[in-house]
Amino acid sequence: MYGVEIKTSEKLTEVSESLYGLFFEDINRAGDGGLYAELLRNRAFDDGIVPNGCRYDPATKTVVSPTGWVTSFDCCEQEGVAGWEARNGAEFSLTDRETLNDARKRALTIRFGGGTVVNLGFGGIPVEKGKSYRFYMFAKSEEAVKVSVFFNGGEKRRVFEISGDYKKYECELTADVTDNNAELALFSESAAAVTLGFTSLFPKDTFMGRENGMRRSLAERLVKLRPAFLRFPGGCVVEGFSKDTVWRFADTIGPVWERRPHWLLWSYMTTNGLGFHEYLQFCEDLGIAAMYVLNCGMTCQGRCPDYFDRTLTEELYNDAVCAILYATAPADTEWGAKRAENGHAEPFSCLKYIEIGNENYGEEYFKRYESFYRRLKERFPQFTYISTDHTETVGLPTECVDEHFYSDPVFFVTNSDRYDSLDRNGPDIYCGEYAATVGCREGTLYGALGEAAFLTGAERNQDKVKMVSYAPLFKNVGYVSWEPDLIAFDGSRDHVIPSYHVLEMFAGSRGDYVCGHSVFTESSRRIESGCFSCGGTVSDGNVFNLRFGSRVSVRFWDKQRDGEDQDRYEWTVENGISKIVHYNGWSTEVICKDTPCELSADNSAELFAEGDRFRITLNGRVLHEQVIKPVPDLTGVCTVDIAEGVVFTKLVNFSAKEIFVKISCDVQMEDKARHTGVEPKPVFTGIFPPILRQPHSTYASMPSFGFLVLTKICSVKTAMHPTANEFEVIFVS
Ligand code: AHR
Repeated sequence: MYGVEIKTSEKLTEVSESLYGLFFEDINRAGDGGLYAELLRNRAFDDGIVPNGCRYDPATKTVVSPTGWVTSFDCCEQEGVAGWEARNGAEFSLTDRETLNDARKRALTIRFGGGTVVNLGFGGIPVEKGKSYRFYMFAKSEEAVKVSVFFNGGEKRRVFEISGDYKKYECELTADVTDNNAELALFSESAAAVTLGFTSLFPKDTFMGRENGMRRSLAERLVKLRPAFLRFPGGCVVEGFSKDTVWRFADTIGPVWERRPHWLLWSYMTTNGLGFHEYLQFCEDLGIAAMYVLNCGMTCQGRCPDYFDRTLTEELYNDAVCAILYATAPADTEWGAKRAENGHAEPFSCLKYIEIGNENYGEEYFKRYESFYRRLKERFPQFTYISTDHTETVGLPTECVDEHFYSDPVFFVTNSDRYDSLDRNGPDIYCGEYAATVGCREGTLYGALGEAAFLTGAERNQDKVKMVSYAPLFKNVGYVSWEPDLIAFDGSRDHVIPSYHVLEMFAGSRGDYVCGHSVFTESSRRIESGCFSCGGTVSDGNVFNLRFGSRVSVRFWDKQRDGEDQDRYEWTVENGISKIVHYNGWSTEVICKDTPCELSADNSAELFAEGDRFRITLNGRVLHEQVIKPVPDLTGVCTVDIAEGVVFTKLVNFSAKEIFVKISCDVQMEDKARHTGVEPKPVFTGIFPPILRQPHSTYASMPSFGFLVLTKICSVKTAMHPTANEFEVIFVS
């Protein structure tokens, strides 16, 4: 039996206005060539500069950080000039002498001699007939050299006479034809040397028409999600993997050609054109809150961490303070004046949240968090501060904790009740990064259903779970380092994955309060199979016997997969404490409470695991015995919109079968349903069948692996083809 009982008269909690937001990180080339509308690849010729302190290994095309982290350094930057080609006899070379300014480490010296030099963009430069593009370059030449600029294949050209020291040469280019694979070409008859210090090409038609702004189509994708906030700039890019790869605010403001570039740990360079100011401006343009994530004195803890000394940590603290002052101080102060100079005299009132670190944890983090938190809170009390570990557990002041989940869909469904038992006196929760990853790299409907089920739990508990954001947001299909991603794009096109539709539906149906609701469901067993393993011994079957001394670690129900796809349970005994943890993707679940246990010198244990039940016996005594929580077929949440008299009922059918859900309500429901969508076949259309219809209840048929959002004038959308179907069901109070 499946059902939902809705009690509109029971008010569980107010809806959190800030619940659905965005997390943007420059990963998968989401910045330059992506959301940040720059069209030229390697516009400053610095792709391929090895980060300070790191060693490049040409044999493996990797860089090795000072602490030993090895990572890919292979975007053809070491051969030729990434993104640029010399043709028809033109020659060019990179130089590190006489660069445009101190931030620029390289320039490009060209001898055209009747040939051309082209920029290939990020897999082609997309241009549209009749549209205008802003081009500029900083160039110099000892002789007077005429250089023409045009889209390859197009008729229109602009000619510049380059002479003397670096000057900015700029023009608008209009495309004669639509071409998603165009190139920007420079040509000269002269063989005299011309040196380029920095170049740029932007469509004029950016989001809100901003120069140095965002690609309109991608920004509009974000608008449709009705976000309440934007978390930026990372993610791991905030942390870096070495001192030189840490994000620093001060490198990201001012004229873009004066900004120091930054090697992102996702294996490419950014020119930092998408900087602190642009992020804030984007938040303001979207009318949403800004959440700034800062580095608190360490590199990524998953990548051979470097814990910075006091001096460098203080430098980063000051960088954070300057960033906040830049955003908020009046224009007649030092940092406020810089902001005004950059075109925004008024403080950015959108800055609301400060996150101290990203995915940092443990002792080293706690120390730094405390020092940053106490000082920042005293100086800037107006912000909500977010920690990245449960800092309250070690007695530190904690306002909100950012939790991240990357797991399989089943993990998400079974954790849809995760927040039901949250300590109401504890800190708020921000689920800052979540995605069904394991088995879902392409972004699947199955994954989206798992996430949707999890979000019903977040919604039910939005008195404490204040914010959520999917991660990552974007990928350029030509440069993928992490999947799945909510929105995929190339130069001119983009598409979204089912998880996007979940957010579009969920964020589009909010209400004022979460009302009482009970969901009745059948469930299925969670555990399918897996073996035992311990210290190199792997065995199948139901029982695993072992002897051990003072510590032990046994894996069971182990699917024998590694890293991001891992799925196993692990029993450990260390320092007299017995723990059972489920590792799934990058997420963990504590299965039993930590249990103190007395060990002898020679311990004998038996681990029995059958079906979804396990039992551990230590020295003849049962230590743990448990059944793993099953997977509910149906999950859901209900909210009420008072002004509209609407009940939003979000239901997720995670099972592989079609189910009939009895929906009953303490107010009378109308029996009309209107189908406003197109093919494929809707979940139901027209009038509820009379047999099923009663004043206070009705039935909805839910397809296998499907979900509904029901509202008064309410949409019933199916995840099978979420944009294609829309239904209206009228609930009358
Ligand atoms: O979203 C991709 C990465 O996952 C983020 O950079 C990091 O915070 C997490 O590990």
